[in-house]
Amino acid sequence: MLRDPRFERFEVLPMTGALGAEIRGVDLGSDPEDAVFADVKRALDHFHVLAVRDQSLDAAKLHRVARRFGPFSGNPVHAGIEGFDDIVRFVREKDDTGKVIGEDWHMDLAWMERPPGTTMLYGEEVPPVGGDTCFSSLEHAYRALSPRMRELLGGLTGVFSGRGVFAENAAHKGLALRTGGIAVEDLEREHPIICRHPVTGTRYVFVASTLSRFKGMTEAESRPIIDYLMKLATRPEFNCRLRWAKGTLGMWANPYVLHTAINDYPGYRREMYRTTVEGVPPLAALPEPQETPVSQAA
Ligand code: SIN
Repeated sequence: MLRDPRFERFEVLPMTGALGAEIRGVDLGSDPEDAVFADVKRALDHFHVLAVRDQSLDAAKLHRVARRFGPFSGNPVHAGIEGFDDIVRFVREKDDTGKVIGEDWHMDLAWMERPPGTTMLYGEEVPPVGGDTCFSSLEHAYRALSPRMRELLGGLTGVFSGRGVFAENAAHKGLALRTGGIAVEDLEREHPIICRHPVTGTRYVFVASTLSRFKGMTEAESRPIIDYLMKLATRPEFNCRLRWAKGTLGMWANPYVLHTAINDYPGYRREMYRTTVEGVPPLAALPEPQETPVSQAA
């Protein structure tokens, strides 16, 4: 397995050619020094999805680890567990049927003014096989666009909507919802479509399943473009797949990826703990430098 030589404090093992890495040889629950967390953040900026293996976290430790990455993002939909407003429990019992929590490609809370910058998910009980989470890179999606399409999308503002979010979450028995979360149904938020990563400056397409239309356009006019972008953004060559084990702390740089839970473990129980770290409002990318027209070239 390839080991990334830029990281010396622990092993960083890339998952695919597009994104994702496994991290081995670090115990985040033991309150390591700031330099260790700075290296994990550096790995997250680079790989966007991390599977930190062999952790042993209870709610208090998960809370402490997460807060070393930054303040809680807030979560208007899911209720926290007792004693920890920032930690949500996701459970799928072995005889539950229907959709699993997080099934279908999405981004967490994209309709917030500051969508969470990092989502963390801890595997407390995982099926012996199945129950993976797939991720796809929105930076790769941007790179696959033609120059004309980049220009077109660069002029668009997306309207992200909370419509349907409460009802979809309410359908899951293993998820506690906030009273008042229903107000999310009426929420709309504008974000640029072509954005840049605040640390690396890399451009990405800010598309998510909650993008309902483009500002100044109808839903019917917007839908074909949104469907095209979602299809492009989830192409298999832009994916990685996180295989969970008990004690894996998954984390993803939420605004730069889409993710989907896989519904393939009937008869097994899965229990996860999730928290989110505050992000920044998506930053519009500057226009790309244009080639000088031939007539103006010296
Ligand atoms: C999520 O969508 O945040 C959860 C994904 C999972 O449980 O695999």
